[in-house]
Amino acid sequence: MANTKSIHGEWSSRFAYILATTGSAVGLGNIWKFPYITGENGGGAFVLVYLGCVLAIGIPIMIAETMMGRRGRQSPINTLSTLSTEANASKYWRYLGWTGVIAGILILSYYSVIAGWAIAYVFKAIFSGFSSDAAIVNASFDDLIASPVQLIAWHSIFMVATMTVVMQGVKGGLEKAVQLLMPTLLVLLLLLVAYAMSTGEYFFEGLSFLFHPDFSKISSDAVLTAMGHAFFTLGLGMGAIMVYGSYLQGGVSIAKTTLYVAGADTIVALLAGIAIFPLVFANGLEPGSGPGLIFQTLPIAFGNMTGGWLFGILFFVLLVFAALTSSISLVEPMVAWLIENRGFTRVNASVISGGAIWALGVSVVLSFNVWSDFKIFDKTIFELLDYLTANLMLPIGGFCIAVFAGWVMQQRHVRDELALPEQQYRIWKFLIRYVAPTSVFIVFLHVLGLF
Ligand code: TRP
Repeated sequence: MANTKSIHGEWSSRFAYILATTGSAVGLGNIWKFPYITGENGGGAFVLVYLGCVLAIGIPIMIAETMMGRRGRQSPINTLSTLSTEANASKYWRYLGWTGVIAGILILSYYSVIAGWAIAYVFKAIFSGFSSDAAIVNASFDDLIASPVQLIAWHSIFMVATMTVVMQGVKGGLEKAVQLLMPTLLVLLLLLVAYAMSTGEYFFEGLSFLFHPDFSKISSDAVLTAMGHAFFTLGLGMGAIMVYGSYLQGGVSIAKTTLYVAGADTIVALLAGIAIFPLVFANGLEPGSGPGLIFQTLPIAFGNMTGGWLFGILFFVLLVFAALTSSISLVEPMVAWLIENRGFTRVNASVISGGAIWALGVSVVLSFNVWSDFKIFDKTIFELLDYLTANLMLPIGGFCIAVFAGWVMQQRHVRDELALPEQQYRIWKFLIRYVAPTSVFIVFLHVLGLF
């Protein structure tokens, strides 16, 4: 099995795989979500917990999930049934593939709405430019959020774009797009960091907010959010990396490529934080102001700097593309399954998945305005979907992946697929068997007040 190919095709090279996976990891999670949840959860201590979770839980699970994908060579649902048969384990493991598909649908339904905000900002940047006045920037964001018609239009454009790329299959377009976009995005982030430095004392206030941990500020729910975000930002726990791994040719080192991708992902998130918080403090804004944070801060920088008009346009265009290379991986497990098991063509599978996700996204749009008072467990639809997926479904999915790779699969198969030197294999095995699952478990107990 280890040498067969996926029916959906293969990446053209190791480099192409790294680019696509980095594309999946780097997205709104890094630039939009990381700063605002860091702001809401008090800064430094939250960042430290997040970094710890990436290292001890995220990276080992990312290696495991990719390894399972490459060995199974199919959509996550079928990969799990093949691998559980191979390991003489229960057939029920394939439901892990199912919950992953569902998590992907739920995440994309709100991810697309936020990506829609970024598209709206591309047009704002082009046609009206940005003001350097925080109050005007704020009001402009509030106007956008208040308009269901606009939000639905932008959300629709993003969904159509996502499904158009997915229709072309994994190799068409995606590989080439990421090659150009990622380096440019990095350059623009560095430019924003340079601008943040020009705020003088506020730059240091921002750094201290991000890197000076104050553990008295962190609640058990913040720890859960930090852990959930480690899964979210690496794109783990729902089969996205598994399906990307299934298109990876044999012979490529999974551990090494995972380290590159996780490293790049972390750097982008930290740079985004370093660029944003000095602006928050310099303009007397509230770090915990929520999902609008980057849309209320970065325009001020663009409004102030020379050439800001052009950089502003470029930045939001790149943000949209970063979101696009992530959104693709969120639907690919479902599309691959519809093709394998229901005999759909790739085009039909894409249209159906996209349509369903779009419809769900409309309710997310409304939760920001018309339905903003409609709450379940004290959360709006957007907040509920985010909490359910990032804080619960992904960590639970990741936990199950760790158990499957560490305890259920035959070790010689795992060893074969990872092809690591003995010492490194042992480290990974220790992390995946003990450290990752126990940490997830303890965080859950903590949230339930049992630990
Ligand atoms: N990692 C992406 C981001 O940070 C989002 C994403 C892509 C994702 N694929 C995923 C999140 C799979 C969870 C699961 O924006």
